[in-house]
Amino acid sequence: MAKFHVIIPAAGSGSRMATALPKQYLPLIGRPILSWTLDTFLACERIASVHLVLNANDVHWQTNSRHHSKLSILHCGGGTRAETVLNALKSLDAEQADWVLVHDAARPGLTHTLLDSLLDELQDDAVGGLLAIPVADTLKRADSSQHVVSTESREGLWQAQTPQMFRYGILKDALTKSGGAPTDEAQAVEALGFKPKLVTGQLRNLKITFPQDLALAEAILAADQEGVRK
Ligand code: C5P
Repeated sequence: MAKFHVIIPAAGSGSRMATALPKQYLPLIGRPILSWTLDTFLACERIASVHLVLNANDVHWQTNSRHHSKLSILHCGGGTRAETVLNALKSLDAEQADWVLVHDAARPGLTHTLLDSLLDELQDDAVGGLLAIPVADTLKRADSSQHVVSTESREGLWQAQTPQMFRYGILKDALTKSGGAPTDEAQAVEALGFKPKLVTGQLRNLKITFPQDLALAEAILAADQEGVRK
């Protein structure tokens, strides 16, 4: 049976957060964002292995370090997210038909239910897909001075999230041919002519990108904890 492997690229600088500490290490209700992200996968029995990919010169993991039989730490981050993921794929001990789930380090709101729905919906698929949410707001295109140039149709538009889940062989081929440019794995797979499946995600699975996102993630996870206590 095909196994599920997880790659968490965490070699970015997170420049849009404008903090000295890379965003995945910022504290979120008492522990680093990255720790929340890792826990969801480590606790899932269906996941065979989790690979955290750091920059070669990452000095922050040591102070946050944790051990788990399923967790491996790779120091092979690349210049782009696609390069980081490809470097990790090259060191993975996996079969062509195995699944690889790629998940952003700073996306701590993924639930077990969402993860299970992604695995359930795609496990019999030939290619794979990703969590995504239909665009709800009206879309404006702006000029360089932030004035509206046009209103764009939101018909058929979805916002891509992670995990993005593809067969190992297809993803490796796609990223090898991509030249390191795509901003997500699906884009590389699409360039091979495949049509990744969109599995409905949730807003709570947001990527922490700007400082205000941290407060939102904190409120969501604190409400979860409150719910557990009730
Ligand atoms: O910058 P952005 O938020 O789009 O990054 C998405 C994910 O890719 C983050 O987890 C980041 O650490 C990772 N990344 C990486 N290597 C890079 C750039 C980004 O692992 N060179």
